[in-house]
Amino acid sequence: MSHENKVIDEAMQGEATMLNDSEDTTSKKKLFIESYGCQMNFSDSEVVASIMKNDGYATTRNVDEADVVLINTCSIRENAETRVRNRLTEFKKKKEDNPELVVGILGCMAERLKKNLLEEEKLVDLVAGPDAYRDLPNLIEEVGTGQKAVNVLLSRDETYADISPVRLDQGGISAFVTIMRGCDNMCSFCVVPFTRGRERSRDPHTIVQECRDLFEKGYREVTLLGQNVDSYRWNISSKGEIKDPSQPTTNFAQLMEMVALVSPELRVRFSTSHPKDMTDDVLEIMAKYENICPYIHLPVQSGNTDCLYRMNRGYSREWYLERIDAIKRIIPDCAISTDIITGFCGETEEEHQDTLSLMDAVQYDFAYMFKYSERPKTLAERRFADDVPDDVKGRRLNEIIEKQLASSLSSNKRQIGTIQKVLIEGKSKRSDEHLCGRTGRNSMVIFPKLDCEKGQYVMVRIDECTSATLMGEIVSKC
Ligand code: SAH
Ligand code: SF4
Ligand code: F3S
Repeated sequence: MSHENKVIDEAMQGEATMLNDSEDTTSKKKLFIESYGCQMNFSDSEVVASIMKNDGYATTRNVDEADVVLINTCSIRENAETRVRNRLTEFKKKKEDNPELVVGILGCMAERLKKNLLEEEKLVDLVAGPDAYRDLPNLIEEVGTGQKAVNVLLSRDETYADISPVRLDQGGISAFVTIMRGCDNMCSFCVVPFTRGRERSRDPHTIVQECRDLFEKGYREVTLLGQNVDSYRWNISSKGEIKDPSQPTTNFAQLMEMVALVSPELRVRFSTSHPKDMTDDVLEIMAKYENICPYIHLPVQSGNTDCLYRMNRGYSREWYLERIDAIKRIIPDCAISTDIITGFCGETEEEHQDTLSLMDAVQYDFAYMFKYSERPKTLAERRFADDVPDDVKGRRLNEIIEKQLASSLSSNKRQIGTIQKVLIEGKSKRSDEHLCGRTGRNSMVIFPKLDCEKGQYVMVRIDECTSATLMGEIVSKC
């Protein structure tokens, strides 16, 4: 596996996940759903499973017993799409053996390619974009009557707020909760505004209710999801005006506080913050509540102001570094991670050096790093040439990866000797005798299990580390 693929796989949280809800075996019809891409897609698949459950489908992890196969896809980089195409070709072969099988494509690639996948490539029977999931039962019925079914309409207000997602993970400790959809930012490299449509926020009461339900079911951690959580707003217009004066307004800091108050035993995380919109009131709420984890993912993309301008990110190097100072001032022990793109259009060697020097200044605890991949229809594709040769992109990527590995290692070494509160997620992959869990700063810790179980909080003394993991021993239960 190449370096880049490895990094991208990490960004995609490992291999594509086959989701299943194995408890429900009573329904006759079976759905197999597989997700690629960001956490939002994984969260959407749980909404899809819920819509399909109401239509009589139980999920299965065995594709051979499925009546319907749905793939929830990502378009962020070209190789994300290539992986999905390969997978669709495999499913096409399954259809040759079982002509009744319905194969559908969901998510960002569905939105981007629309009916091309149906008509030109004949890879699927059904195409549903991210705002069309309520229509899935109808679309499947249309396929049954011999039609090709497509719904890629984007909506200005769909948030699936009333749908209670079917939790498909096995752990049952940590859940993603979508608080907003779409993105209005138009970063010049990014396909998301085209695939996910306009930004819209979800009713805060449905969010808090979902978090409360999760807590009651035994979950101990929620991650609030949006492409730009700092622009979450309820009952406030994009110009900052109150829409309905008789109703309260809610911004992201207030939402986070409402969720933190569900229980001090429920950890709160969020992703993704945007440097141009992240305000001090969010940082102050984080500092106020022990159960809001001291960890911020603040994608920088580049350390050079001219390059950031071409990327249309809306901030300069200095602005970004000031936001980092604010984090360090208000939440002194906060972990910080980032996303970086190498070889964006016109990126000079000096601009690349600025990214390296910014990494030195911030000392990220973790980073997701990518080679620039040109995406159709984006501002960058229309305005700039993708002119950094692939080998230069690769060399620059290796340089930032190398720097980040050193930075992650020293960040982990600084934890040695400290005692950290860890939420146990389950058994370690390494052995049945070890458990794993995360610190508030989001570092994975492995430790001998004693008599503890997943979902419990324990205090762990950190004794050793690699650049990716901490190792230690439980010193007390919480
Ligand atoms: N909303 C988030 C990021 C969403 S996409 C934000 O604004 O930060 C996740 C990451 O993929 C981005 O932060 C960026 O680093 C990377 N990415 C997006 N488009 C890309 C492209 N065309 N080529 C390479 N990486 C890209
Ligand atoms: Fe893409 Fe920028 Fe929106 Fe993030 S903020 S999803 S990078 S357009
Ligand atoms: Fe990919 Fe769409 Fe997420 S393009 S990163 S699945 S919003």
